[in-house]
Amino acid sequence: MNEFFNKDIISIRDLTKENLESIYDSTNKIIDMDSSERREIARGKALGYLFFEPSTRTRLSFQSAMALIGGTSFGIADVQSSSIQKGESLADTVKIMSGYTDALVLRHTLDGSSRFAAEISEKPLINAGSGTEEHPTQAIQDLFTIKKELKKIDGLKIGIVGDLKYGRTIYSLLYGLRNYDVNVHLISPESLKIRTDSTYDIKKELSYTESESLDEYIEDIDVLYVTRVQKERFPDEEEYVKVKGSYVIGHDVVKKMKEDSIILHPLPRIDEISTDVDSMQQARYFQQAEYGKFTRAALLSLILNKDEF
Ligand code: CP
Repeated sequence: MNEFFNKDIISIRDLTKENLESIYDSTNKIIDMDSSERREIARGKALGYLFFEPSTRTRLSFQSAMALIGGTSFGIADVQSSSIQKGESLADTVKIMSGYTDALVLRHTLDGSSRFAAEISEKPLINAGSGTEEHPTQAIQDLFTIKKELKKIDGLKIGIVGDLKYGRTIYSLLYGLRNYDVNVHLISPESLKIRTDSTYDIKKELSYTESESLDEYIEDIDVLYVTRVQKERFPDEEEYVKVKGSYVIGHDVVKKMKEDSIILHPLPRIDEISTDVDSMQQARYFQQAEYGKFTRAALLSLILNKDEF
C-alpha cells in the first residue's frame, strides 16, 4: 500500500525527505502520462474544498488537478454564499462536506484550523493555508520547481526575501528545506523577520543567515524566493505602510544575478517584482504556479489510491 493513502497533509513537517522525493517522482509520472491514462486515476472520486480566505492559485490548481486525474470537485469558495453565513460552525461544515466527498481541502484564517478540521473529517484533509502557520502544498510545489528547473536542491544558495513574519509559505518552505543541504539567506526588514517561536525548530537542521540587505547576496544566490508583504495579517495598517515596498525586484536587480539562477514567488505579487522581469530568463514564477497543478494532482492520486499508480 502507498503510505499517503488516506493521509492528512497538515504540515510539511509530517513528511520525510523520502516522502517528498516520492511526490516529485509521482509528479513527473503524471506530467509524462497520456491524458486518457491520467483520467483513470481518480475516476468516480470527488474533492471538496472549503476556502474561508480568498484564493486563485491554490483552489483552482486543486480543481484543475482533480479534473486532470478524472475526478470532480466542488465546495465553498465564498463563505457568504454558504450556511457559514448563518452561523454554522467549521466543525459541522467539515463533517457535512466529508460525507459528500473522498478528500477535503481547507484554507482558513486561524492557525491550527487544519489540524482541528482533520480530527473532525472522516476523509483525508489537506491544509491549503492555515492562518500564518503553514501552506504545505505550496512548499511541495516550490521544492519541486527548484528540483525541476535546477536539477537539484542540495548544494544551492537560496535567498528568501520579503515578509518572513506573516508569510505562511515561508514556514512550510523552511521546514521542507531542512531535508536538504542548502545555505539559506533570509532577507527582510527588522520588523518582518521570521517568528522566534519557529526558529528553534528550523535552526536545528538548517543553516541560515538573517539580514536586511539583498545586495549582500544577490550576485551569489541560485534561487531568489520573493514574497508579498501580507497586508491582511498586520494588526495595524500604519505598520504595513512602513514596510510595504521594502524590496522591489526590478530589471536592474535581476541583471546582478547569475544567468542560471531562478526567481520564484508563491504569488499573488503586488509590486515586489516589476513586470519587466517577467520576460527575463531567471523568472520562473508562472512556471512554478503551473507545476502546482501537477504536484497537487500527484498528491491527490497518492491520497486517493491504495496502490501506487
Ligand atoms: N500561492 C497561493 O497560495 O496563491 P492563492 O492565495 O491565490 O491561492
